[in-house]
Amino acid sequence: MGATPVAPAGAVPTHVGIIMDGNGRWATARNLPRTNGHQEGLEAAKRIVRAAADLGCRYLSLYAFSTENWNRTPDEVKFLMGLVGRHLRKELPFYTEVGVRIVHSGDTARLPKSVQTQLAGVMEDTAGFNRITVNLALNYGGRDEIVRAVGRVIEGDAASGATPCGSPVTEERLRGALDLPELPDPDLIIRTGGERRLSNFLLWQCAYAELYFSDKLWPDWDHDDLREAFADYACRTRNFGGVR
Ligand code: FPP
Repeated sequence: MGATPVAPAGAVPTHVGIIMDGNGRWATARNLPRTNGHQEGLEAAKRIVRAAADLGCRYLSLYAFSTENWNRTPDEVKFLMGLVGRHLRKELPFYTEVGVRIVHSGDTARLPKSVQTQLAGVMEDTAGFNRITVNLALNYGGRDEIVRAVGRVIEGDAASGATPCGSPVTEERLRGALDLPELPDPDLIIRTGGERRLSNFLLWQCAYAELYFSDKLWPDWDHDDLREAFADYACRTRNFGGVR
């Protein structure tokens, strides 16, 4: 049996996922509507995209809207979709300056048509940038992604004329049917805002991710907070189920 890889201590995480929590509380603490918190949360997201690129992280997954977030009030959902759509429409100069390639994970079909169009446009316009890849998880749920991946595997079997029982399902086949199979698994998942759970984020991909929880609310996050999270990550020993 080959030796299980052990990640070197001190490495910058290649792929970081962030659960950006605390926008509503940030606003409520200032007697502002929750939507102001989301607006500030978007500014924080831009700060952190730049910081992640500066710190040498190559992939950043941002949990911007979950499959469960449709349960919020219609006004909040409408505001969030509008915020994302406007951001995608006007931030090409920002993505160009930082060198950001935008990709998307989640079920596109339920997003408003305007957001689908903006998303497709910005993905095309940024496809050639390679300093950092930012995955916008929009209408994303880990369970939903796995269910859709299983569907693609079954469709692939039908299209290839496989036997009625299909061809064997392997980890590789299922992984290849996920929304962004070309992205490496996240090394580090950060959740802000004091909660300590994954909330359906990247469930398949998180099998060996290190977890980092911060009490700070998302709109308050900046470069130093990300640097601190990376420093904490650099001290972890990752055995991937093996031994040191
Ligand atoms: C969770 O805070 C935050 C969200 C569900 C929305 C996050 C979206 C953004 C920050 C916009 C980012 C968009 C792009 C394009 C990167 P919450 O509302 O659950 O906060 P609470 O727990 O304090 O109520």
